[in-house]
Amino acid sequence: MSDPHSITDALKARFSESLAVDEGLSGLDELARLAGRRVHRRYTERPVDSELLRLLCACALSAPSKSDLQQADIVILSKADQGTIADLIPDQPFIRSAPAFLVFLANGRRLPEISKLRGKPFPNDHLDQFFNAAVDAGIVLASFIRAADAVGLGTCPISVIRDHSARVSEMLRLPQRVIPVVGMCVGWPQDAGHISPRLSLSITVHEGRYDEGDLAARIDSYDRRRAAIHPYKPRDPARWGDVPFYGWSEDKARQYGVPQRADFGAFVRKKGFNLD
Ligand SMILES: Cc1cc2nc3c(=O)[nH]c(=O)nc-3n(C[C@H](O)[C@H](O)[C@H](O)COP(=O)(O)O)c2cc1C
Repeated sequence: MSDPHSITDALKARFSESLAVDEGLSGLDELARLAGRRVHRRYTERPVDSELLRLLCACALSAPSKSDLQQADIVILSKADQGTIADLIPDQPFIRSAPAFLVFLANGRRLPEISKLRGKPFPNDHLDQFFNAAVDAGIVLASFIRAADAVGLGTCPISVIRDHSARVSEMLRLPQRVIPVVGMCVGWPQDAGHISPRLSLSITVHEGRYDEGDLAARIDSYDRRRAAIHPYKPRDPARWGDVPFYGWSEDKARQYGVPQRADFGAFVRKKGFNLD
């Protein structure tokens, strides 16, 4: 994907909108890759070379970092530990079949340790400390995905590892104030995958002031655009019953209509973060 049409086509599929693309713009290849990015959950058996993984980790960790504090780490899992995680999450079998599996960490430990080493107080033990480390981990995650895409590797982040935070933390010997944020399957894609449509830019890009307009109508129009491309299989119909039209918003409302990881705050506090 290097010509401007590939970007406009990808963005049209994503947002149902034609965006102007200046053909003289440098970096069109990179933009096209970003516009056409998609999750990959099916991989060939071709292994991912360990040196390539380290290269991608290095590129990912070249991401910007809040105040240069560098509070994100990556663990490249052994096959045995990947298998243990796959056992914990049986409904996501691609975790086992992925040629490589990583865990991205928020590291709130190094900074207070450095303060101790330098004989300084650390009067910043509050929510912002957790937030900074978690945001850094998210940026490193996104940078890893971008790096993997650039070499043709497929990725799938796995937040479900947080259903088992304590177990994962124990397995990876994470000390206090270091927590798993997200896992990541990595492998050579078995198929092209598909572009997943996003909410229209009228909902998510604001000019000057936040303005959600007629949110219900805009969501409905997104629901219908998306369902026309990839209809959803209704989630838990026994619990929620039938609806005349099942779209993204119905699916997300059902997904978040049941408690998820309600114990995560307790885990994070137990790991030594102050969330106040
Ligand atoms: C932080 C994060 C966590 C995710 N966790 C999971 C997961 O546990 N299992 C999974 O199958 N996909 C997971 N995904 C992938 C999303 O489901 C996927 O990105 C989304 O459906 C949109 O599709 P797209 O990436 O192809 O645009 C995660 C994505 C992100 C960014």
